[in-house]
Amino acid sequence: MRLSRVLVTGGAGFIGSNFVRRLLSADPQVSVITFDALTYAGNLANLDALPDPSRHSFIRGDICDEELVINVIREHRVDTIVNFAAETHVDRSIFDAAPFLRTNVMGVHHLLEAARKVWLREWGWGPDRCRFHHISSDEVYGSLEPHEPPFREDTPYAPNSPYAASKAAADHLVRSYGVTHGMPVTITNCSNNYGRFQFPEKLVPLMILNALEGVPLPIYGDGRQVRDWLHVEDHVAAVHLVLRKGSVGESYNIGGGGNHTNLEVVETLCRLLDKVAPDSPHAPHRALIQFVSDRPGHDRRYAMDTHKIERELGWSGRRTLEDGLQGTIEWYLANAGWVAEIRSRPDYQEWLDRNYASREVGT
Ligand code: NAD
Ligand code: TYD
Repeated sequence: MRLSRVLVTGGAGFIGSNFVRRLLSADPQVSVITFDALTYAGNLANLDALPDPSRHSFIRGDICDEELVINVIREHRVDTIVNFAAETHVDRSIFDAAPFLRTNVMGVHHLLEAARKVWLREWGWGPDRCRFHHISSDEVYGSLEPHEPPFREDTPYAPNSPYAASKAAADHLVRSYGVTHGMPVTITNCSNNYGRFQFPEKLVPLMILNALEGVPLPIYGDGRQVRDWLHVEDHVAAVHLVLRKGSVGESYNIGGGGNHTNLEVVETLCRLLDKVAPDSPHAPHRALIQFVSDRPGHDRRYAMDTHKIERELGWSGRRTLEDGLQGTIEWYLANAGWVAEIRSRPDYQEWLDRNYASREVGT
């Protein structure tokens, strides 16, 4: 598929904004329309200093607003939709699942309907003219026992958190539009990402920023939960590849290939911070680690089998966790203004209190 006018929904968030940068720098013929509601996680500063900004425009809007999406598709002659828009934090979905169902399920329904009405009905476009790509997660597959093989694309869905359940529902809906309506869909399911512009409620930036401030590093449960960490730039390169070479109707797993416990990730961050910020009054940062009461329904292990995208599309070349985390620490240190703006927001402080204040501290 030759991309031309790409609508990136959720493009002011962490992964979406990295994808916008990737498209503008790697694909000189595309124009990009970022469409984002700017929830607490969306940030226009993530789109500052874009490569070749003349090929980029921003529209503030909600994916549940089907009329607006229809108008945007018509007005910009959009031929590709890449949907990153979502509520994304598992811990928030435990307190209140409603926004997750609204955006992650109904929002995807409205996006699909908008695309169907314009591309398929009004313009009569076939699969060679347009593409609906949906970004999903490894969490839809549930949790692995230590002896079980990594998730494959045909592993049955068994989501355990309200977040994962909403993502699973969306995947099913996207797939069904492909089968029932002939919508040219593709899906990618990716493992945990880290890198620049990640909202600091998530594990990696939270730990970096807490450590630099000398605030405890809260590890849920025993910290032995395993995740398949992937650098965000490797993720967006894989999505770009799927858009160009992926087969319509298929889904592709994307993952980092290294499986680390949360404790190992936080210990690595502490070690790197001791090196990158040797004058920190809080070194050795490892001493800040604190075990706190676990997340309910906490998935024990995720691991991705990425043979399909490697074999069929030739995907390769991933950063090591150590290199990726080092670059990420350096980015957060160099972008103190971006961090300070988010941390000064009352709703961010309220979130930290809500999620952490009542957790029991263990050893
Ligand atoms: P994020 O929370 O940083 O960004 C989400 C973006 O979506 C924000 O800019 C927000 O304003 C926007 N948004 C939310 N609701 C919207 C709505 N109703 N209409 C329009 N825009 C809306 O999320 P992220 O970490 O960048 O994740 C992006 C996508 O990747 C999500 O679909 C997520 O499920 C998926 N994913 C994330 C990870 C990860 O580790 N972060 C891993 C695998 C898959
Ligand atoms: P997170 O970044 O929230 O991603 P996800 O839940 O989607 O995997 O969390 C990554 C892992 O880190 C997860 O196992 C939960 C754990 N975690 C902590 O131990 N402490 C924390 O403060 C946070 C935010 C997460």
